[in-house]
Amino acid sequence: MNTAAMLEVKGVAKAFGANRVLEGVSFEVGQGEIVGLLGPNGSGKSTLLNIASGFLDPDVGDIRLAGKPIAGMRTHALVQAGMTRTFQLPIMPQKMSVLEVAMAAATENHGLFSTVFRTAADRAAERSSRERAISLLDELLLTPVAHLPASAISGGQKKLLGIVCALMAKPRLLMLDEPTAGVHPNLRRDIVTVLQRLNAKGMTLVIVEHDMHFIREVCNRCIVLDQGEIVASCRPDELASNKRVVEAYLGASVAGGRP
Ligand SMILES: Nc1ncnc2c1ncn2[C@@H]1O[C@H](COP(=O)(O)OP(=O)(O)O)[C@@H](O)[C@H]1O
Ligand SMILES: [Mg+2]
Repeated sequence: MNTAAMLEVKGVAKAFGANRVLEGVSFEVGQGEIVGLLGPNGSGKSTLLNIASGFLDPDVGDIRLAGKPIAGMRTHALVQAGMTRTFQLPIMPQKMSVLEVAMAAATENHGLFSTVFRTAADRAAERSSRERAISLLDELLLTPVAHLPASAISGGQKKLLGIVCALMAKPRLLMLDEPTAGVHPNLRRDIVTVLQRLNAKGMTLVIVEHDMHFIREVCNRCIVLDQGEIVASCRPDELASNKRVVEAYLGASVAGGRP
C-alpha cells in the first residue's frame, strides 16, 4: 500500500443550530486503503461523509483530496477530480430506467438523451457509457431490472444502483454510506467481492458500515466516532478489546469503567 494521503480531514466541526454534531475531527486515508467509519446511530458518520465528499460545508476545518483543498469545489469538479460517493438512502428519478440512470452518471455524456444537435462524439460517448453501464449493472446483479423505472426497484437494489452510478465516474476515492444496509444477505457477498476487486485495482474506499462481519472482512482500518468525536483508529480485530469503542456502543458502565 502506498501511504500518500488520498483524503485528509483536518479539524472539522459542524453544528446544526444548537446540535454540535462534529467536533475537532481529523484523520487521513492513505492511497489504496479501505477504511471503515463506525459509530452508534447519530454519532455523525453521515454528516462526516457529507463533509468529506464536499456535499456539505464544515463550520471549520479543511478537507484535501490528494493534497488539494476541496473547499468551494462544485460536485462535478469533485467527481472529475476523482471522488464519488453513495447515499445512505438513495432517491432515484421516476421517469428513467435503471440503465438510463446508470448511463447518466457517466462523466463523458454531454449530449446524452438529447435528440437534436447530436454530434458523432456524443454518439460515441453514449455507446461507451452504455457498454460500461451494462457491464457494471451486470457486476452488481441488476441486469434483470435494467429496463424497469429506477424508482420501482427495491431499496437494496437502489443501493446497488447507487454504487453503479458512483463507479460510472471511475473514481480514485469512493465513499459509501451503509452499502449493505437493507441489501439481501446473498447480495452482500457480491458487494464484498466487488469492493475487494476495485481495491485490488487501486481504488481507495471509505465505508460507513454497521455490519461487523463486513468490516472485519473488507476494511484495513477502522475509525470510530462517538458523539461527533473520533474515539478510536485501529484494525478491525482490535475493535472488541478497545475500551472506548465498547463504551461508545454499550455505555461506560458495561465497559467496566465507571458505575
Ligand atoms: N441536515 C441536518 N439538519 C439538522 N440536523 C442534522 C442534519 N443532518 C444530521 N443532523 C443531525 O446530526 C446528528 C448526526 O447525524 P448523522 O450524521 O446522520 O449520524 P449517523 O450517520 O452517525 O447516524 C443527528 O443528531 C442528526 O439529527
Ligand atoms: Mg448515517
